[in-house]
Parts: sequence; C-alpha cells; structure tokens
Amino acid sequence: MNKKVRELQTYPMDSLVKAKEELKKAGKRIYDFGTGDPKEPTDPKIREALVKAIPEVSQYPTVKGRKDLREAIANWFFNRFHVLLDPETEVIPTAGSKEAIFHFPLVFIDTDTEKKKVIFGTPAYPVYERGTLFAGGEPYPVTLKFEEQFLLRLDKLPKSLLEETAIVWINYPHNPTGAVAPISYLEDTYNICREYGIILCSDECYTEIYFETPPHSLLEVGKKGAVVFHSLSKRSGMTGYRSGFVAGDSEIIQNYLKYRSSFGVASQDFIQQAAKVAWSDEEHVKERRAIFGQKRDIFVKFFKEIGLEFLYPEATFYLWVKVPNGISSKEYALHLLKYGIVISPGEFFGKGGKGFFRIALVPTLKECKEAVDIWKKAHKELMEKKNCR
Ligand SMILES: Cc1ncc(COP(=O)(O)O)c(C=O)c1O
Repeated sequence: MNKKVRELQTYPMDSLVKAKEELKKAGKRIYDFGTGDPKEPTDPKIREALVKAIPEVSQYPTVKGRKDLREAIANWFFNRFHVLLDPETEVIPTAGSKEAIFHFPLVFIDTDTEKKKVIFGTPAYPVYERGTLFAGGEPYPVTLKFEEQFLLRLDKLPKSLLEETAIVWINYPHNPTGAVAPISYLEDTYNICREYGIILCSDECYTEIYFETPPHSLLEVGKKGAVVFHSLSKRSGMTGYRSGFVAGDSEIIQNYLKYRSSFGVASQDFIQQAAKVAWSDEEHVKERRAIFGQKRDIFVKFFKEIGLEFLYPEATFYLWVKVPNGISSKEYALHLLKYGIVISPGEFFGKGGKGFFRIALVPTLKECKEAVDIWKKAHKELMEKKNCR
C-alpha cells in the first residue's frame, strides 16, 4: 500500500458518519450540524433540465466540457465579478471542485525540483493537504489566527520558504471559520505570489453564500498565475450532482486541461446541461441565502446568549465557535452527541482548529430552532459539571 495513504488519518468526516449511524441505530433524533451538505431542495428548473438532458445513448463527455456551459459560466462570472473569461481557453467544467482541487498539484508540482512546497492555512478544508501529499509535494500548513481574521498572511513568512513554494491555497469565504477576505488582502497575496513565481489557487466555492456584501474573486485582482475553483454544490444545493469549474490564467488552464484527460473525471454531459441552467439563474441562489441568513441569526443569538465567542459570519453557512475554557472541542462534541447534536471538533480541520468547533447550518430552519433548546440544556449541564462560567 502507498505509504502516504497509510499515514493519512481517516477523512475527518468519516468518523462523524460512524457516530451518526450509531445514534440512528439507538433510535435517537439527530440534529446534524457536521458535514456541510444542506438539505434544501435543488431548484425544480435545474432538476427538470437534468431529466430532459438524459439521452437514449449516453457517450463519453469531453474533458474540455460543453461549449454552452463554458459560455454560461463566463457570463455568470462577468455579471458577478466584472471579469471577462474566455470560455475557449480560461474555463474547464469539473466534477465538483473537490476533485479539481485534489488533482491540481499532480500537474503543477515538479517533484524533481526544490520548488515543491504547498502553503495553505490551518484550520482548512483537508483536500489542499491531501492533494499535495498524493502528488509528492510538501505541505506547509500556516496557523490562521482569530486576531488576524483567519487570513493566511504570506507577508509574515520567510522568503526562503516562498522561494521553495509551488502553490498557495487560499479559501475565502473560509471553511471552517466563515472569514471573508477584503480585496486589499487578495491584492497583497497575489503580488507576493507573482514576485516568487507561485501559482495562487483560490477556492471560491462559498462566494455566493453571503449575507451582506458580496465577496470578491481573486481574478478581480489579476489572472496571470491565478486560478479559481467554483462549485454549484453550495451555491445551488447540488452537492450530489458533482459540478463546478476551474478558471483563470489560460496557460495554466490549458496545461491542466491537457493532463486532466488522464484522470477520467470529466463532468457528465447531462449534469453539464443542468449546470448551465443553474449558472444562468440567480433567483434560487437569493432564496438559499435568505434561508441560511435566518439560520445564522438563530445561532448568532444563541451563542451570544450562552456566552460563547465566535467569528461573526458574513458568508458561508458555518459558525466557528470557541469552546468554553477548560473543555476540549472533542469533549464538547461528545457531550452534545449524547443529545443527538452533531458538531465538528476544530481539530477535524487541522491543528489550527484546536479550541474551536464548527457548526454547518444544514438542518432545516425548524430543526435549528428545536436543536437550540436541546443544546441549551446540554450546555448548561456540562458547564455545571465542569464548574465553568
Ligand atoms: C472549502 C471547500 N472547498 C471545496 C469543497 C468541495 O466542494 P464540491 O466538491 O462539492 O464542489 C468544499 C466542500 O465542502 C469546501 O468546503
């Protein structure tokens, strides 16, 4: 077996699945704030487009993807970020963004050189590290700090490290903290990467789940050396469809396209037709934002009431919350689990997650309201037991 695979711990979310299964078996009512997979139905227009697109004979999709989908994506991108993308050379539809993120270092790390480090933040989505390891690169996690709004600050890293770096991953709006990056941060980070010949990858799958100001895309700052990853999973409630795209610097995109044919992950043609309908409509996205906004408000109020500290989320459907003093995030999560409430301990997202937990606002609005009452009781019980504030 591959040594790197052996050394990896189980994918963090897998342990949540097991815990939930056990609760289910015990007949417990579950309020699942673990995995970021919301339950709101996919818009009927999108589902109808999918059904209509299923042909009598379904043949191999192309790696480059359908022209009409690439055009719809370029249109959406222009309307949303005011950046022109050439659908011929600067966009590739992908089977969700996870595979595109995972495979990227396989093409862009030259393991025969010294420049094979990959920088990303911790806490983070685990795939930046996993993709790096499988590609033979060297992961370099940088701890993100509450007092720096969880921004990955390249200006604070040694020059010698940047010289040996092939790829930097940023992800704003950020999973798991919900942090958002101002445009000045994107400019500064972009400029440093240009100076050191680093490919800057921006995972932007949460840019559409915002509550106040729409977040920026890295491509507003520059295209050369920059690549962005987008997804319909969160924006349109299409996690099961596996549909996203990668866009940016045409040279990088063309090289990625060339080698992606080896992976066999081209998005199915009928999915692409549904994706075209999704990228061409904003109404359903507005409705989703309104629902997540209501759920966010319920928990913002609740955490304030019980005195837990958190980053006020302007975007994403996550809340990143400090565990009460004297309690580990695992202990807190295990205690809530007894009451059927599933949360993710911060360590699931790397060592930088210590002392925090994440909730994903995926249960329905009604379930969120019910869960708050149960959580309040569970919290009080643990605080009394531990003699905490
Ligand atoms: C930060 C981040 N990036 C990428 C993904 C992958 O999304 P998908 O593969 O569904 O597009 C996720 C999923 O949770 C995520 O949280």
